[in-house]
Amino acid sequence: MARANPAPKGPLPTVRIGVVGHGVVGSAFTALVARQRDIIASRTGVQLDVTRVAVGDASKHPTRIGTAEVVTDALAVANASDVDLVVEVMGGTTLAGEVIRAALESGKPVVTANKALLAAQSGELFKIADERGIDLLFEAAVCGGIPLIRPLRESLRGEPIRRVLGIVNGTTNYILTKMTETGADYSDALREAQQLGYAEADPTADVEGLDAAAKIAIVANFAFGVHVVADDVVAEGISRISASDIAMAQKFGYVIKLLGVAERDSNTGAVSVRVHPAMVGVKHPLAAVREAFNAVLVEGDASGSLMFYGRGAGGDPTASSVLGDVIDAAVNLRKGTHATLGTFSQATFTPPGDVVSEFMLTLEVADKPGVLHAVTGVFARNKVSIRAAEQDGIGRDARLVFVTHDARTSDVAACLGEFQRLDVVSKVGGVIRIIGD
Ligand SMILES: NC(=O)c1ccc[n+]([C@@H]2O[C@H](COP(=O)([O-])OP(=O)(O)OC[C@H]3O[C@@H](n4cnc5c(N)ncnc54)[C@H](OP(=O)(O)O)[C@@H]3O)[C@@H](O)[C@H]2O)c1
Repeated sequence: MARANPAPKGPLPTVRIGVVGHGVVGSAFTALVARQRDIIASRTGVQLDVTRVAVGDASKHPTRIGTAEVVTDALAVANASDVDLVVEVMGGTTLAGEVIRAALESGKPVVTANKALLAAQSGELFKIADERGIDLLFEAAVCGGIPLIRPLRESLRGEPIRRVLGIVNGTTNYILTKMTETGADYSDALREAQQLGYAEADPTADVEGLDAAAKIAIVANFAFGVHVVADDVVAEGISRISASDIAMAQKFGYVIKLLGVAERDSNTGAVSVRVHPAMVGVKHPLAAVREAFNAVLVEGDASGSLMFYGRGAGGDPTASSVLGDVIDAAVNLRKGTHATLGTFSQATFTPPGDVVSEFMLTLEVADKPGVLHAVTGVFARNKVSIRAAEQDGIGRDARLVFVTHDARTSDVAACLGEFQRLDVVSKVGGVIRIIGD
């Protein structure tokens, strides 16, 4: 029979935490620490104690949260003598960066959920943490409550990872789910997402793929051991996806998802890191990820495919990831050790035009003899071969939908250029990549 650990004798060592930001994530974090304090102490032998909380506007908050003093000087929290470990859940890049640098420089471990900051400044921040021999942990920065960074950083450290495909933005997945399941067009689905609190009043960062770009940049660092920042990511969002693109994809057996993709060419070592809408087969595991859920598929040579699924945002799930990191960092601090982030080499990027995939293209054309010949001639001239085609009548015109075999992005772009100039083509519609197994 298993025996419980004997109760530790005497007071436990305490790690004092300064929390910077007490909004959605920060307030869920302090509540979770309060709820789990005794269990954490009995499992780890370390007592967590939140001593300071920084907020932007003190008038919105009580003067104390638990026993912690509420203050407005975020930098002072990083430097305070009664703070051993800093949790940065304020967001933004300027002050948050200063807080994290100040904490690390003074030997205090940092846990952050700040994807925007990490995706822009990871190189510098990782270097400071490494030089100081101190933890900088950020599981919550990518996909909120889903453990992904630690598995990539630890369990899969030796794995030759070929590709990571992720639905890493809940807002866009909610919008695309509504468009797929109800036939709604983009603007109605966006409005509903805003009413339900899934989308911000200004949804640009989500719908244009910028939030997903920050996350997939962080993932690419750990998947391939190369240095990637958000500006290296080629990002395209979902604002041009129409109800008819969704319907056409369904007709061919696909659903449209916004994917973050990080893939490595095993011959050249070059990486492609990008965000774009993609058609995935209805039986693909990512097709079943609905509403605001996130999922990331990691494809390794030895491990095969691994799927990480769950809630990519929200106070409690994100606080759960933050707390896991805080416990690790607190235990490491007591032991005088720290997690290894690894070393990152300079990345070589696959030129965007060289990325190969299948595509679905839609054209509106005059419904008269010779049109098909002219259109297929364009594909042939640009070395793009067609796997499937479909024609619908729309009044006196016709809609042609083509699904290509694997083709280079630059060759497909050249076809689009020629179609724009072709008299018989009245409109070049959606062009969407297809992601295979
Ligand atoms: N929300 C999520 O589901 C989620 C998921 C994953 C990652 N994250 C990341 O977690 C971080 C926090 O997100 P959140 O949703 O919790 O944000 P939030 O609800 O807007 O909370 C931000 C907090 O920071 C405080 N703050 C703002 N300016 C400050 C300043 N100058 N000094 C001190 N405190 C300041 C705010 O104070 P007031 O309360 O006084 O305004 C607020 O308490 C962001 O980096 C975000 O990307 C969030």
